[in-house]
Formats: sequence, structure tokens, C-alpha cells
Amino acid sequence: MARPKIALIGAGQIGGTLAHLAAMKELGDVVLFDIAEGIPQGKALDIAESGPVEGFDAVLKGTNDYADIEGADVCIVTAGVPRKPGMSRDDLLGINLKVMKAVGEGIKTHAPNAFVICITNPLDAMVWALREYSGLPHEKVVGMAGVLDSARFRHFLSLEFGVSMRDVTAFVLGGHGDTMVPLVRYSTVAGIPLPDLVKMGWTTQEKLDAIVQRTRDGGAEIVGLLKTGSAFYAPAASAIEMAEAYLKDQKRVLPCAAWVDGAFGLKGIYVGVPTVLGAGGVERIVEIELSKEEKAMFDKSVEAVRGLVAACKGIDASLG
Ligand code: APR
Repeated sequence: MARPKIALIGAGQIGGTLAHLAAMKELGDVVLFDIAEGIPQGKALDIAESGPVEGFDAVLKGTNDYADIEGADVCIVTAGVPRKPGMSRDDLLGINLKVMKAVGEGIKTHAPNAFVICITNPLDAMVWALREYSGLPHEKVVGMAGVLDSARFRHFLSLEFGVSMRDVTAFVLGGHGDTMVPLVRYSTVAGIPLPDLVKMGWTTQEKLDAIVQRTRDGGAEIVGLLKTGSAFYAPAASAIEMAEAYLKDQKRVLPCAAWVDGAFGLKGIYVGVPTVLGAGGVERIVEIELSKEEKAMFDKSVEAVRGLVAACKGIDASLG
């Protein structure tokens, strides 16, 4: 059987890391696409040259031509401009909307059967626009945010408790931005919910609140340190986990920006929710019960996403 084909649209910091991870995990052959000439070709060749040392079998190709993504099984989109210090994800809206138009049309023409994972920010609005421009089924177009936000939350929690990151599960809902909703009640250490761990004296409510805030600000913390760009290792790892769930039909329960139409009382919006990811793309939305406070936070997040989508429609009337 031929190897799956993974097209990476955008060969910058995240795109290059995605290519490296996809090759190392032997998820398939990789095509790196970018408008910058030489960058995708150079990164593809560099990673391919690590193959004999690492011992992976994968073909890597860099390109500036959409025709090379023909028939891709998975497309991961990072094309666009990342944040600079002081910029919010929303500042990126106008620039990256134009990029989504070009990318959406490229995918529509050359890879209409792909499972598409969008990473470009502002995430929830960009994944919506990408779906509109590509015309692919909603369940085959998702945004990567929840896995990353949850991973950050898990990392900080593991530091606080002094336990393995593997034993910390965490749940983050809502939009990828300042209004994201880390769900403390559904986050656990080996099945013990965080509120119980507070009662057990493992941490205090104040410390937990600070960790929740650090999670919300997780992206900005990295931007502040790097100064010349935004996070790329953890975002790439998170998207690869989602791609693998699709390619191997793993039915993973992962939070991602998915099309919600009916669940949670929402009508037609891309927002971060728990999903089951398998060969059908988003096979199910897990409609957990939210407390009054959680619902209020989630609604606020949904409103922020709706605002961004409205702004997109204001910029490009064809999206109306
Ligand atoms: N088509 C294809 N590639 C494009 C286009 C386009 N229209 N416009 C820009 N690019 C490419 C750039 O040439 C660059 O190589 O997208 C790449 C983006 O890479 P980086 O600038 O290194 O950004 P990165 O850190 O990878 O982040 C990409 O993900 O997390 C988000 O906010 C982040 O929106 C940003 C995206």
C-alpha cells in the first residue's frame, strides 16, 4: 500500500517542525509548500538527509506549486504571518484571511479529499474561513488549538504536583485566545479531579488560578521570550497527534476547533470542543455538561469568535 501523503502548507517554523515529526514518526510522505522560494526545498532536503541517520522511510519534497499537493490525505496549514511581541492573534486577521483564500482554493483544486488541520491564527476565525474558501465538508476541516492549550495546562500542572506529565489529563474548551476555558473540574492527575487535589492539599486554589491564567497566556509567554516569532515545537507536536488520529483511525478524544451546529446550544460556529477524531475526521462532538460559570466563560469565548468571523465577513464580502 502506498504511503499516505501529508501536505504542509507553510514551511516556516511550525511547517518545518511538522515535516520533521511526520518523517520521524513515519506517518507518510511529506510535501512542504510555501510561497517563499527555496525554503520548502531546503527544509525538505535537510530533513531527508537526516533519514539515513534516524532510519525513517519517507519521501520529502519542497515546492512552490500547489499541483504537488495533488491527492494529499492530510493538509496541515500554517501559512501566514505569526505574532510579533505586542500583537494579539486578532491583529493578524486581515493579513491571514487573504492567505486562507489562496490556501483554500489550492486545497479545493488539488486535495479535496484531505483532512485539513488549520494552525494559522486567529485560529477559530481562520479555520472557518479556510472551510468556506475550500468548500470541504465541515467534519474534514478542523483547527488545532485545544491539544496545545491542554498540553500547556498539563505541563504546568505536572510541575506544580511533581508528577509525570503523562499522568496529568487536562481539558481546555472555547476559542484559542484570551477567552479560552481551562476546565478544572474535568482535569485530573491519574483520574483524581483538580478540585479534589486542592482538598487533599496538593495545591491551593490560588495556585490553581495562577496556572489557569498562565495557560491562557501560554502563547504570549513564548512570544515574549522568542521576540522574533511564536511557539512552534508544541504546536507542531499537537497537530501531528491530530493527523495521526485521522490517518490511523484512532478515535482519539481530543479537543479541537470543530464545526459545532446543534451541540452546546450553538448554531454553526467553529470553536474548541472535545471531539472524537478518526478516519471520518470529526466523528463526534462530546457534549459535556457545563456548570453555570463554565457555560458563562464558554459563551464569552463563543462571542469573541463570532466577533472575529464578523470581522472576516467585513473584510471579504464574498464570505457573507
Ligand atoms: N501561501 C503559502 N505560504 C505562505 C503564504 C501563502 N500565501 N503566506 C505566507 N506563507 C508562509 C511564509 O513564507 C512562512 O514560511 O507561511 C510561513 C509561516 O511561517 P512562520 O512565519 O515561521 O510562522 P510559524 O511560526 O510557522 O506560524 C505560522 O501558525 O501559530 C500560528 O500564529 C501563527 O499564524 C501563524 C502560523
